[in-house]
Amino acid sequence: MADDDTSTTIDTLAKDTKRYEADGEFTRQANAQPDIYDASLEDFWDAQAKQRLDWFTPYEQVLEWEQPYAKWFLGGKLNAAHNCVDRWVEHGQGDKVAYHFVPDSGPDDPACRDITYADLQRDVVKFANGLKSLGVGKGTPVGIYLQMVPEIAVAMLACARLGAPHTVIFGGYSGTAAAERVGDMGCTVLVTQDEAMRAGKTVEQKANADEGLSSVRTKIEHVVVLQRTGGDVAMQDGRDVFWQDLVADQSEDPESCPCEPMDSEDLLFLLYTSGTTGKPKGVVHTTAGYLAGVATTHHYVFDLKPDSVYWCAADVGWITGHSYIVYGPLANGATSVLFEGTPGHPDKDVWWSIIEKYGVDILYTSPTAIRSHMKWGPEHAESHDLSSLRVLGSVGEPINPEAWEWYRRHVGGGTCPVVDTWWQTETGHILITPLPGITPLKPGSATKPFPGVDAAIYDDEGNTVGPGGGGNLVLRSPWPGMMRGLFNDDERYRDSYWSKYSDAYFAGDGARVDEDGDFWLLGRIDDVTNVSGHRISTTEVESALVDHDSVAEAAATGRKDPDTGHAIVAFVSLRGDREGTDELAAELREHVAKQIGKLARPAEVIFTPDMPKTRSGKIMRRLLKNIAEGEPLGDTSTLLDPTVVETMQEQVKAGKG
Ligand code: WT7
Repeated sequence: MADDDTSTTIDTLAKDTKRYEADGEFTRQANAQPDIYDASLEDFWDAQAKQRLDWFTPYEQVLEWEQPYAKWFLGGKLNAAHNCVDRWVEHGQGDKVAYHFVPDSGPDDPACRDITYADLQRDVVKFANGLKSLGVGKGTPVGIYLQMVPEIAVAMLACARLGAPHTVIFGGYSGTAAAERVGDMGCTVLVTQDEAMRAGKTVEQKANADEGLSSVRTKIEHVVVLQRTGGDVAMQDGRDVFWQDLVADQSEDPESCPCEPMDSEDLLFLLYTSGTTGKPKGVVHTTAGYLAGVATTHHYVFDLKPDSVYWCAADVGWITGHSYIVYGPLANGATSVLFEGTPGHPDKDVWWSIIEKYGVDILYTSPTAIRSHMKWGPEHAESHDLSSLRVLGSVGEPINPEAWEWYRRHVGGGTCPVVDTWWQTETGHILITPLPGITPLKPGSATKPFPGVDAAIYDDEGNTVGPGGGGNLVLRSPWPGMMRGLFNDDERYRDSYWSKYSDAYFAGDGARVDEDGDFWLLGRIDDVTNVSGHRISTTEVESALVDHDSVAEAAATGRKDPDTGHAIVAFVSLRGDREGTDELAAELREHVAKQIGKLARPAEVIFTPDMPKTRSGKIMRRLLKNIAEGEPLGDTSTLLDPTVVETMQEQVKAGKG
């Protein structure tokens, strides 16, 4: 591997990089001030845990670290639902809106609902009492298979109130995937809904759950069915109960169902995430460290103010939604938007209508969503008053500089700080991010480790890589929200994260660090390919392609090549009515060569109307490689639209023939 060539690429990119200094006005009012980085790791988290959480019993010890297992805030007792709901009501914030709920039909529908902290407390208490009547208590695992409805937060918090760990299965997963996960955790209760609303259409959900439960062995004894659409569903006698019936006669008095005092290290939830192969991993998150981590990062990274209206447009079914729609914002007593729908429905400007309607000041979304909006053109955002926005966040994948600039300019009025936040299901909360108002911003860089986070880049031998170099992102010290292992699988936990290096957590992401010490995430290690001995990030190739004004979206992969080891294949979706001609393909190849270097020039550019995306909007990169190599595709059950890959396979064949 010719690392010197890689660093040439890196230097070239870094030199061209724009830098936005922190704006003085913003700095003066920012939650984070530069001395936030001064405290030692343990002192920082100790102070945050004391300040941001309400403890039934104070902890005795901040940290116990026996690699690879951490314990935080040992000896403390607390309850997540108390911290997220009850304490705000007790502190006189009962009338504050917790969620502005916007249904799939959009912000003009009278079905929009404001849910205050007092409402939330009432709903959580009633549902917790309902769960109790089904035998749920401290330690009983509960599965939640709901869409983006307020009841998803209610169900999670009701579990937390009882000390019952939950696992939320993303509502777009198949019933089989849901049943496998609740089966793995040993859940006895599954909470689901009759039908989902997606872009104006109803989608069966209870029927999916039934199908999964009939084909996978689980311990499910009760299925609670929320009536979202009122559509007809088959109810199984003795097993199924409607949510509305379950709560009808339950007490709403908080005293009737007090918050269970939980140990700091008691399990709060499992969230299953896909490994590269094999069965999903049940990522373990415990109570105090997780809550401290999400509350602290939510406060500083988004510069949350008491009157903020915050909107994280992710799905609660993913870790982003757990941490930054439910637990983080509620632990900070914030007002959030909860949107059931998708970006393009009922109109391409639905997001901007929502922001205008509620005066949203903080928006947190993904590069994929930003690129969808780019594709539709800036006129939709520009026809709305978005002047309430102060902070824009990005998460989920590396953000290409063009999307970053578009976001800042067309959504953020050219002035909002854009915070590109790196983290994972496994890390629980944001670990690498700018702090708005104090960190100079560079489009495409997640910049600096959050205070109290010890990130570095290692080469393959475990040496720290200095400025200008690239390697693997690692974390050298524990942080409060880190996973406490993989459920029932110590060996896989050690193998996946702690075997590559003897003294650090291996994140699985490639990264480089520039002369200012800023981190640039390059995508998963498996997105890094090797062409003629040169290490190339397919993410960088994609950035270069998207930088061309004919390109809406690009995905690059390395396919095996007899001459060069690997060759880059780029799949490209064009903007508007541009045509995918041979001339344009040649132009794009040259464009990449010019941007990064000849070594990164794609061997092939294949035009495709769409990308193979999961229902959560992530491009399934594993498939790109298979498509490019003409290999069988394996499991495609999580794809949003399976016909996309068929078209792509045909294009590849045609290109080769
Ligand atoms: C992987 C984790 C964290 C919530 C959503 C994803 C990629 C995430 C960034 C970012 C570059 C990013 C990494 C990471 N990723 N955020 N800001 N820049 N890459 O959670 O499904 O557990 O995926 O997403 O590759 O390892 P996840």
